Amino acid sequence: MSTINDCLLLRAIRKEPVERTPIWIMRQAGRYLPEYIALKNKAGGFINLVKNPELACEITLQPLKRFSLDSAILFSDILVISDVFGIKLSFEENKGPVFDKTINSFKDLKNITSDYEIDRLDYVFKAIKLTKHELNGKNPLIGFIGSPWTVATYFIEGNSTKKFHKVFKMLDTNKELVHALLEEITKVSIKYINAQILSGIDVVMIFDTWGGLLEGEMYKEFSINYVNKIRDSISSNKTPIIYYVRDPKNKADIIKNLNVDVVGIDSTVDIGEFKRLVGSKFTLQGNLDVNVLKLSDEKIHHEVENILESYNGTTGHIFNLGTGITPDINPDKLKTLIEILANISPKYNVK
Ligand code: CP3
Repeated sequence: MSTINDCLLLRAIRKEPVERTPIWIMRQAGRYLPEYIALKNKAGGFINLVKNPELACEITLQPLKRFSLDSAILFSDILVISDVFGIKLSFEENKGPVFDKTINSFKDLKNITSDYEIDRLDYVFKAIKLTKHELNGKNPLIGFIGSPWTVATYFIEGNSTKKFHKVFKMLDTNKELVHALLEEITKVSIKYINAQILSGIDVVMIFDTWGGLLEGEMYKEFSINYVNKIRDSISSNKTPIIYYVRDPKNKADIIKNLNVDVVGIDSTVDIGEFKRLVGSKFTLQGNLDVNVLKLSDEKIHHEVENILESYNGTTGHIFNLGTGITPDINPDKLKTLIEILANISPKYNVK
């Protein structure tokens, strides 16, 4: 009898032979899908979807009903962990996440660290259990956390910023506070991800989106160290781990030493070149530029072929975009991408 362990995604992660390259898409359940918008409007916003296990489950499954994807990813957000700290998260249309408190002093930090009640995220664990039940072994389910560094940038800024002024200022003037905050987020993240695993997720993904802001020793000190702590505290050694970071090229020497199964990369680097830089220890995930989905089918075909040629391996590749799919993408283009990959990837896989 085949089990979830035999699915294409998990085989590619273990670098076992696959008949074609598996694919899933970051933010595959999201604003580019009219059925997502309809349910979000009915529920009264994103956070209401996330906090309602039945709706979160329904949204998780929406893209799998439309497309032949090889994995589900839990519908939630890396920032809901703020619930454990008693920081209120809301999402404003076109503005992104907003917190009711920011952490800019030891006093601020002390005020949010009274307990570590992971039960406050019960809606996530319920959504995982429901979704696993609905998937019924047909597709794996990816669960996730943000890296402590990436989550900390939001706790410090209080909202979405492209400039990160407060973050850079704190790195410059109060490193001890940054580390103290990272320690707290790490403690909670360990509990949180282990509880997701117990609830049934098949793969862990760690989003270190803003690790891309740091370079060299700073990247190690403020991001990688804490990712390693989480990694070493994941109680199940059979749940594979995907580590995703933006701008990974000049970090390859550091990433090379990570103890994870998969490295997810954005579109700023050539996948074949990155593979040469980190060696063949990891499965790689990525890295089509989302904007390619605005081009003609011929151009999409060409770009998919380029990535497969460049990766140049028979397994150990999970196709994905370099970033999340954006609201301006026509869902039909994603269908086209999936079909192209299904047509042309077999010749790159089992010979
Ligand atoms: O990939 C998935 O579909 C799983 C669910 C998921 C979401 N966010 C849903 C979401 C995951 C894994 C995330 C991760 C996340 N959230 C990251 C790391 C990955 C990345 O995108 O770089 C970050 C930095 C966040 C924080 C966040 N959430 C921001 C900055 C925003 C607003 C801007 C944006 O990108 O949309 C969100 C909102 C969000 N998270 C939406 C979704 C579907 C859009 C919500 C809406 O309908 O308005």
